[in-house]
Order: sequence, then structure tokens, then C-alpha cells
Amino acid sequence: MRPDPLSFLTTELEALNAQGLYRHLRVLSDAQKARTTVDDREVVNLSSNNYLGLTTHPRLRERALDAITRYGVGSGSVRPIAGTLEIHLELERRLADFKETEAVVVFQSGFTANAGTVSAILTSDDVVISDELNHASIIDGCRLSRASIKVFPHKDVSAARKILTQLPASQRTILITDGVFSMDGDLGPLPDLCALAEEFGCIMMVDDAHASGVFGKNGRGTIDHFGVRGRVDIQVGTLSKAFGALGGYVAGSRALIEFLYHRARPFLFSTSHPPAVAAACIAAIDVLLEEPQHMERLWDNTRFFRAGLQSLGFNTGISDSPITPVIVGDGALAMKLSDRLFAKGVFAQGIGFPTVARGRARVRTIVTATHTRPDLQFALDVFGAVGRELGIV
Ligand SMILES: Cc1ncc(COP(=O)(O)O)c(C=O)c1O
Repeated sequence: MRPDPLSFLTTELEALNAQGLYRHLRVLSDAQKARTTVDDREVVNLSSNNYLGLTTHPRLRERALDAITRYGVGSGSVRPIAGTLEIHLELERRLADFKETEAVVVFQSGFTANAGTVSAILTSDDVVISDELNHASIIDGCRLSRASIKVFPHKDVSAARKILTQLPASQRTILITDGVFSMDGDLGPLPDLCALAEEFGCIMMVDDAHASGVFGKNGRGTIDHFGVRGRVDIQVGTLSKAFGALGGYVAGSRALIEFLYHRARPFLFSTSHPPAVAAACIAAIDVLLEEPQHMERLWDNTRFFRAGLQSLGFNTGISDSPITPVIVGDGALAMKLSDRLFAKGVFAQGIGFPTVARGRARVRTIVTATHTRPDLQFALDVFGAVGRELGIV
């Protein structure tokens, strides 16, 4: 019999298992909601990015169903061949109006928006100046571009400045930050980074995945929140989190978007969204503009839950957003905390190295607009009981 050429993968998996790092996928048998069923257990769900509860909003469902009736279920092609339906262009126009930019291009995901954009606009002659905690999709885009990558310590604007002062004035550079950092929930220092980009003539790019629908007027993101409109050349957002559906987009000048239409590889070589997804995203914009109560409840719930965790004695880090980490330090302890919470009906994932630094392992919680006070109080009671049982508080 032929020896298995993939046997090294089994060895790697066994090593993960031995280190306690092998994770089984948790499976939802109900919708992505505040209370749902995971691995056959009813839980309060503190693990989703469904910030506003739009995954199950009636207006999104209705528009998606109408689009299926009208267009069918698939788009049948990549965008530049035959996969641009009217509804794709309608979504791009609506997003450009929403973001108040000249134009928008929609990608299949936030990941492909970041990776596809960075790799399209940069070459091996260029230099990227990137926060050390920027998302993996930005890092992959930088690697694909073959540009040289200079990483600055998290939010350290003077370190970013130092890198820039060492480069020749003629060097093309791009400064990239997340708007909201996904593991700590803190915000990128946008005003200072914009000023730096202006001083050194850098392209300024912000990945606003966790800020879309969460920060700024009607959820326009951190650029609106910080009042730096017109100072960020490339704004990336996602349609997969607060927007409740799937996708990513880039908002910017008409020239940027036209260029990405011609050069961004996920746009060129991967099939466009099913029409139902585009329709649901259009409905999400309507909801953001017409139903501000969802954002209000999200922030109200965030304040209530974080204050509750802090009064129990947990270390909730430096978050400014609805992402509230419960930092315990040791990786095995974080996984144990997550497992014990789950056994008692609270779903909050443990996160350890390499996703966060060694010694900074945590359980990450995200509340949504659709959690009720009893849901959150129940979760706090369970956190308190398990935290005491494990000697964390
Ligand atoms: C900061 C950040 N950027 C980009 C993405 C990718 O977005 P999507 O899930 O739409 O691919 C994520 C998702 O986890 C993220 O946290």
C-alpha cells in the first residue's frame, strides 16, 4: 500500500492534542441568536459578532427571500465576466452613500477585501507600516504583495513615526491599522495616525470590520466616530458581523475602486455574492438608518455587562467596544473557564497563544443588542460562580 504522504498532518494534530490545543468545533443547531442551541445545549451566546441581531431581522430575511424569488440562488460567475447583477451595483451605491465616499467595491468577505486590496495596490518596492495586532487578512495581503513589512508595537504612534523617519522621502508607504482590535476591543489611534500619514505622505488604511454598524453615526465606523472623514484613503468594512450577512467592502475614491475592479484578485477570480446576500446587506443599511434602537441597546448592554464583570473582580482589559475580554493569563485556565461556563449554559470562547500573546489568554465575550437583561444577569451569575470555583476572582 502507498504510504500516506499526508501522515505529517496527523503528527501535527497529535502534537496539538498533547499540548491541550486541539479544539472541537462547537455546532449550532439553531439560528445565530442571543440564546441559542450549541452542541445540544441551550446557552446564552456571548461568542458571535452578530452585534445588532440582524442575522434574524425580519427585514433582512424578507429582502433575501425576494431576491431568491427574483434572481435564484447563485450569481453564476465572477464579477468581471457575468457575475455583476444589478443588485450588486445597488449595494455598492448604497454603501458609498452610507460611508459618504465616492465609490465602494464589495468583496466576498472582509478577509478577501483586506487581502485583495493590499496585495493589489502594493508592489515589492513599497513599504507597509502595520500595527502588530492588525488582522490576519491584512498580514496575508502584505505578504502576497511582497512589499516590505515594518511592524510597530500596538498603537505606538511614535514607533510608527520612527520607522517613517528612517525611510527615504520618495518611498511609497502605507500606514494600516484596525479601527477596533478584535481580541482586546480597543480602538486604533486614528487621529494621530492620520496626522502621521499626512506628515509623511503615506496612504492611510483602516480595517473597520468590528466598527461597521457599531461605531459612528448609524454605524458608519471609527472614521466617523473620530471625525477623520477625508483623511483615510482606504476604508475596509465587513458585512459579516453587525450587518448580519456576509461580505466585505472597500470605500474610497472612484480611482481606487476602479483600480480594484481591474486588479483585486478575489474580485477578478472568485464568484460574486449570491443575490440574497446582497439583498440582505441592502436591507441592513436600511435598518441602520431607520432603526437606531439596535445600536442604542447594544451599547446599553455593553455597559451593563462590562460593569457587572468588573464588579465581580474580573480583569476586562482595555476595551472601548462591545468586545469584552476576560483576561486570565494562562492558556489552559482560559480553556477551562470557557468549558465550565459552557457546562453551565454560557457560550464564550477561550482564546490563547498564538491568537493573543503568551500569558494574555482570555475568554472573549461579545454582547449583542438582542440580549435581554435576564440573559446578561444569568451570564454574570455563571461567570461569578465559575470564576470563584477556579480561583480567578
Ligand atoms: C479585524 C478584522 N478584519 C477582518 C475580518 C474578516 O472579516 P470577514 O469575517 O467578513 O471575512 C475580521 C473577522 O474576523 C476581523 O476581525
